[in-house]
Amino acid sequence: MAKNIILTGDRPTGKLHLGHLVGSLRNRVAFQNSGDFDEIFIMIADAQAITDNFNDLSKVRSNIMNVAMDYLSVGINPEKSHLFIQSQVSELTEIMFYFMNMVHLGRLERNPTLKSEIKERGFEKSIPVGFFTYPISQAADIVAFNANIVPVGEDQVPVIEQTREIVRSFNATYNANLIEPKAIVPTGKAARLCGIDGPDSKMSKSLGNAIYLADSAEEVKRKVMAMYTDPNHLKITDSGDVDNNPVFIYLSVFATDDDFAEFLPEYQNLGELKAHYKKGGLGDVVVKRFLNDVLQKILTPIREKRAELEKNPEYVISVLKNGSDYARSVAAKTLQYMKETMGLDYFGKNKLV
Ligand code: TRP
Repeated sequence: MAKNIILTGDRPTGKLHLGHLVGSLRNRVAFQNSGDFDEIFIMIADAQAITDNFNDLSKVRSNIMNVAMDYLSVGINPEKSHLFIQSQVSELTEIMFYFMNMVHLGRLERNPTLKSEIKERGFEKSIPVGFFTYPISQAADIVAFNANIVPVGEDQVPVIEQTREIVRSFNATYNANLIEPKAIVPTGKAARLCGIDGPDSKMSKSLGNAIYLADSAEEVKRKVMAMYTDPNHLKITDSGDVDNNPVFIYLSVFATDDDFAEFLPEYQNLGELKAHYKKGGLGDVVVKRFLNDVLQKILTPIREKRAELEKNPEYVISVLKNGSDYARSVAAKTLQYMKETMGLDYFGKNKLV
């Protein structure tokens, strides 16, 4: 039977935040513990991060440990998921080199993900070739591990679509059997968490509107108490809007009925709290204090685990080293297979003469 293999990853350009927790990390832990997958590879995509940070390598370097500790502190278990660093698997570059022949310039130019990322970075006038070709590199990341399932954010779907095209083209050209992967995208209200600064912005490091998994308890509280709410809810007696209000959006993602029983027993559930806020007579401070309690309950064990890991960086490094060695062994087999299908194993099965 065909295997179920997951490959996913993050560019190490910053610490991970609540948006990552609900959009990807919780799902990864659930996949890992479901027993439904034969293998799970989680990649720290440092080489991809370099394509738009080539002049700031220390940022990429320092965030490798941050991201690894974030992974481990939320419950990604290196006994069950292979954690590795992209640049340490040099076979990926060689796979990409052959994939480059499967892609035309115009197709990359039309990739909607790439288009918007080029714009965000101000690369319209002059695009570094390394950055422009990262979707091809990403195809190599996926194919190298025979992944059939790629959990990504909605914004990455066109990149996975391009991977599928590359695989089809390689398979047809060389009569090969590489696995064509599928993207899976988080759905529902957790798919895209807004920032603390308003309902329409996405939580992100560059916008300065994030609550990080590694933030101290005081920092989390300070950020929650400063959150944007309903700008028209000026007096406690005013009626308030819950739909475009980040505090209520976060509660709808994170708060459980048990949290109400524990921290705010005057209400049984979010429905009751919302109704009171809409009617008027409920102040922002009460709601924010509750959100703070809810988030502290989620973040405290993560923070404690992280503090332990920070005391033992050698352990984190050994996880990454072992994962990278294993990833390399798998990618080498795929590369060997590709070269055989292309007849490039001149000193092996396909002898030159
Ligand atoms: N491009 C992804 C991101 O920005 C990171 C990534 C690199 C990735 N290679 C991958 C994700 C392969 C999934 C599969 O988040």
